[in-house]
Amino acid sequence: MTVMCLLWTEDSRTGGYDSVSSKGIHVMSTEMSTMAAGNLSLAPVATQFNSGMSNRFLDKLLSFMVNSPLYRNFDAKLSASPAIATLEAMLGTDSNEQEANPNQKKHVLACPICYDTLIWNGDPVFSVDSTPRSILKCSICKKSYSGNETHLDLTVASGTKKYGEYKPASSELFRLPIVSFLYERGWRQGFSIWGGYPGPQKEFEMMKDYLNPVIGGSIIDASCGSGMFSRLFKKSGLFSLVVALDYSESMLKQCYDFIKQEENISNENLILVRADIARLPFASSSIDAVHAGAALHCWPSLTAGIAEINRILRPGGVFVATTYIVDGPYSFIPFLSLIRETLSQVTGSRIFLSESELKDLCKTYGLVDITCVRNRQFVMISARKPA
Ligand SMILES: C[S@@+](CC[C@H](N)C(=O)[O-])C[C@H]1O[C@@H](n2cnc3c(N)ncnc32)[C@H](O)[C@@H]1O
Repeated sequence: MTVMCLLWTEDSRTGGYDSVSSKGIHVMSTEMSTMAAGNLSLAPVATQFNSGMSNRFLDKLLSFMVNSPLYRNFDAKLSASPAIATLEAMLGTDSNEQEANPNQKKHVLACPICYDTLIWNGDPVFSVDSTPRSILKCSICKKSYSGNETHLDLTVASGTKKYGEYKPASSELFRLPIVSFLYERGWRQGFSIWGGYPGPQKEFEMMKDYLNPVIGGSIIDASCGSGMFSRLFKKSGLFSLVVALDYSESMLKQCYDFIKQEENISNENLILVRADIARLPFASSSIDAVHAGAALHCWPSLTAGIAEINRILRPGGVFVATTYIVDGPYSFIPFLSLIRETLSQVTGSRIFLSESELKDLCKTYGLVDITCVRNRQFVMISARKPA
């Protein structure tokens, strides 16, 4: 897709960036810093500008692009004259362009040990079915990661033969096949009864407003469980790539089975990945959105998890999550803080006692535009990485 972008000159500034297509392709911003922040990363962009701009300006633009951390994924061709210049840039892809250059998208997968981009030897297209045939290799660590029938294992410990890793109960519980089986067959529905969760469809509708700025981009359904939201994201057609990610192999298997059972889900641009939230296998600043439904309270290290989400989100990227807040009438439970602390030490789970605590956590990472929507104990929090 080609997008015409207006560049600015020092005396004719445009007014911020704007969307020009229904596919979420973005045009130029008024400031280079915004451009550096990754608005270009959503899509291949071809710009044409014709504004009597100076060679000095063009030099500055080129030097910015070459020095930009985004340059690694960036093929640029510039033919310039003092008056007219054509810049063709390829950064990220949308669904049409991905068919032409499917490897672009694969640059998002990174080694969980060193975060260097993984080299993918497998089907040229990201899809649920390409994982069994895929081997990913890190050129720095020389470690290989492979896919099994249902998912890619991108945990640090993947491939170990004797070493087994066990996490706190809040994570391990969901690795039990019986819990994965029951999850969408009653377990999750229970959250609505005693926690005020509106239910997947309504939660999806609620989060769409927050996800609007990143439509057309990539989304990670972090701690996807059996994949109810991954399926909704995929079926909505709003994202160019959906990654269903969980630490539990049995949840991922269940997620795979549900995807296969649904007739109206395309397998393309959808992958299932096993990973630990505290060590995410994605390149820094490569992802447009991360969703974490009913999961923050299960992560053994919430700070490590949010730090990782912050790392992989591109500037301007969106984080949206749901969890519980035990406040209101529950605040009167005696020794609540002590109970929470003990529970956390024993099970690894985290209970929030106030909305401000949750907001404070997001602020620590410099996330902005933090909002909370409540329904009894349920909270949906959204935040954005500054552009
Ligand atoms: C309550 S389920 C949430 C599932 C789904 N997102 C939802 O909205 O219903 C919590 C999920 O967090 C996952 N989880 C726990 N620890 C994790 C970790 N360290 N890394 C990634 N996922 C983890 C569990 O495997 C489980 O699937």
